[in-house]
Amino acid sequence: MSKTLIKNIGTLQTPVGSYSHGGSSQGENRKLFNAAIVIEDGVIAAIHGSDSGSSDIHSGNLDANSLDASNLDVRNLDAINLDADDFDTVIDAEGMLVTPGLFDGHTHLVFGGYRQHELAMKLAGADYLDILRAGGGIMDTVRKTRAASFEELYEKSKSFLDEMMSLGVTGCEIKSGYGLNRDDEIKALEVIHKLQEDHPMDIVPTFMGAHAVPEEYKGRGGEYIDWLCDELMPEIKERNLAEYVDVFCESEVFDREESKRYLEAGKRLGFGLKIHADEIDAIGGSELAGELGADSAEHLIAITEEGMNALRDGQTTAMLLPATSFYLGKTYAPARQMIEKGIPVAMASDFNPGSCPSLNLQLVMNIGCLKYKLTPEEVLTAVTINPACACNRGDKLGTLEVGKQGDLVIWNASDFETVCYRFGSNLAKCVVKAGVIQS
Ligand code: NIG
Ligand code: FE
Repeated sequence: MSKTLIKNIGTLQTPVGSYSHGGSSQGENRKLFNAAIVIEDGVIAAIHGSDSGSSDIHSGNLDANSLDASNLDVRNLDAINLDADDFDTVIDAEGMLVTPGLFDGHTHLVFGGYRQHELAMKLAGADYLDILRAGGGIMDTVRKTRAASFEELYEKSKSFLDEMMSLGVTGCEIKSGYGLNRDDEIKALEVIHKLQEDHPMDIVPTFMGAHAVPEEYKGRGGEYIDWLCDELMPEIKERNLAEYVDVFCESEVFDREESKRYLEAGKRLGFGLKIHADEIDAIGGSELAGELGADSAEHLIAITEEGMNALRDGQTTAMLLPATSFYLGKTYAPARQMIEKGIPVAMASDFNPGSCPSLNLQLVMNIGCLKYKLTPEEVLTAVTINPACACNRGDKLGTLEVGKQGDLVIWNASDFETVCYRFGSNLAKCVVKAGVIQS
């Protein structure tokens, strides 16, 4: 058995529980002081610490009795005998903050090339749909992804995962969607599959064949959807290459009826459901997500009151992407209203070569605080347990509790407020994945 001890933790801050946190529970974090974590064979075996410490008790902090503490052993460390000789690895947190590893619940990180030339078009006033309409945007990346070999895509994607992990991300979702034909969609999903085997990152694969209408089906989007549902989706299921399906429900891409057919076919085959909804125009994507019980609806910049009610009723997580609003120069999704309605809010990078060429989830956290007006506690929930639950990993990832995987970040900060406040630097000091130091 391998045993790791993380000792000398100044503050341990974590959401608690394996469920999506909506409403007031979005801002409920447990804080322990003078803490230590014991990890055995990758799984948290014990957490020790005290409920009171020298640090300030910030608003949103809970007292000892307000959460079920059954998975946290709240005793003063002095009362516990932790002998360093019993451990294979001892990591000294040097009095710093420790949180769960972050989970990035929405990425498109397998792609060929980049689209830096679009910057000049943007500066000249072209917007996202103008570029797509002119055959650029997603279609440009489709051409480059089709031209790239498996090995090229694998190496490039692997380096993205390394960079994400160095920024504190220990789990992520990855969508296909730049192949848009059988061989190239499967190539991307096989890259993801190989990375699941080779890379320490926990990865959740999503099939997004309905990301755009490919050239070969120009003007025949409905036929393309039929082909995806009847041919490609069943093959992907059979080969177990994805857990979720996702569709870009948007003006000039896939309308509500096409999105519905695609998601219903996915549901019949046993996939979980995700949807790109209300990114630019509200054409009914959120309502559809709620109706079909999708695990997440993503973007939601233009969401309506009816859309929010549908998410609440369907228990669908709002996967918000504030760095995309920033990069597209759009407004920001109404995150506070969603929290007030009881919708669980998650935040992700949306890393892709067009609308968000950044994989930095720390930046997402900063923007989430400043533009969505989320508190640091709500932000932590939005980048840990909520996205983990929206990707069916809530039982294993997303909180620091006994029985969960030993994935954590030691920060170059003594409290989480500092992590939300400093921006532009990487404050992740040490990233631990299943008890093993990664960076
Ligand atoms: O989530 N909106 C659709 N898909 C991506 C962008 C893809 C691209 O521009 O390459 C998004 O923003
Ligand atoms: Fe996206």
